[in-house]
Amino acid sequence: MSKVFKTKPLRGELSVPGDKSITHRAVMLAALAEGESEIVGYLPSQDCERTIAAFQAMGIEISTTQLDEQPTLRIKGKGLFGLKEPGDVIDCGNSGTTMRLMTGLLSGQKFFSVLSGDSSLRSRPMRRIIDPLRMMGAEISGRSKGQYAPLAISEGTLSPIEYTQPIASAQVKSAVLLAGLSLAEPTTVYEPGRSRDHTERMFQYFGIPFERKGEKATVVGGAVFTGKKMVVPGDISSAAFFLVAATITEGSELRLRNVGVNPTRTGILDILLKMGADIKIEVQESAGNEPLADLVVRSSSLHGIKIDGALILRAIDEFPILCIAAARAEGETVIRGARELRVKESDRIESMAVALRGMGVAVETYDDGMRIEGRPDWLGCDCRTAGDHRIAMSMAVAGLLAEGGNHLDDVACIKTSFPGFIEQLSALSK
Ligand code: S3P
Repeated sequence: MSKVFKTKPLRGELSVPGDKSITHRAVMLAALAEGESEIVGYLPSQDCERTIAAFQAMGIEISTTQLDEQPTLRIKGKGLFGLKEPGDVIDCGNSGTTMRLMTGLLSGQKFFSVLSGDSSLRSRPMRRIIDPLRMMGAEISGRSKGQYAPLAISEGTLSPIEYTQPIASAQVKSAVLLAGLSLAEPTTVYEPGRSRDHTERMFQYFGIPFERKGEKATVVGGAVFTGKKMVVPGDISSAAFFLVAATITEGSELRLRNVGVNPTRTGILDILLKMGADIKIEVQESAGNEPLADLVVRSSSLHGIKIDGALILRAIDEFPILCIAAARAEGETVIRGARELRVKESDRIESMAVALRGMGVAVETYDDGMRIEGRPDWLGCDCRTAGDHRIAMSMAVAGLLAEGGNHLDDVACIKTSFPGFIEQLSALSK
């Protein structure tokens, strides 16, 4: 049980840890490259450690060091077909990105592998990746006809496909493109909306033939590519907690340095600005094909808005903390078209509705979203995080302003994406 108290204004400068999505992909592509890669500013969180451990179990040498005062990985890649069969089940822990992207990548390998994870991950839908991978010829089985992990991948013979995704998902898109990396013929994914494009940007950074035309993303694999140095931007999904904390805490001013501002990820900025937030975006030199900026946020009052359409996809991981902003805003905020929130690390519509009601906030839920009535004061509450890192961090931020603070039943889950978050937040608010 951890208690987060009422706060003074949040002021100063800080860096947030490296981007989680980019770290996973950097490890994967570095392991498949020929020769050494350096990943500077990678995210040393539990989720990313699962991906690192998976490649170590498949014979890839990975060491950690510090470079430019940043946590850095050195990875000795062995080429597209240099991995060896793992001797045990690959434990993906809580990490959906590890499981879904690795399933694609392993489908193209000539060995047997099994992927499993914690109880949350074992209850998340996997047919969305299994279906297109089976269309390519992958031999994958899993519980409930492949809907749930553990997933077992046998040696299959893949052929390229042109796949139209029924739902926009970067994990599905990446799984298919990573499977396509083993093929010399083009593999194409059509996406119904532009989900995060880190895989595609990293293909280009490594010189892997990749083309994007509107909704069509095509990779041509099979050819050797070599290891590189990469700098990982700060994770905008982690920065989001400080953006909201500073916005709702009177007298605050924070500079968040070197945050990744890839347009497929900046929905949080658009939404907060629309709600009346005061955030300046100071563009910096880009890193490894990903745009960077310093974000300067000052406290300001917010008003409720309607959030739907393309904004949902561009802010999909930020809804727990956006719920906190909405609960402080004047008027009501309505979120629709966000059914995917029900199958994240927890059912985030339900988790946040329960948590907000605990603070005295009126919430109505829908199948695909929620309506939140903002109010200027909150009760402190006993909060169940459902083992979900983003629910825990959101309720910790809310605890800065709730009367008597919030008690969280689990803060250990925060380590999946942001080790040191509670310490960083407490240091700013003391
Ligand atoms: C991720 C994609 C998103 C996101 C997840 C990370 C990725 O999931 O919610 O936290 O790194 O590709 P979907 O692709 O399932 O929407």
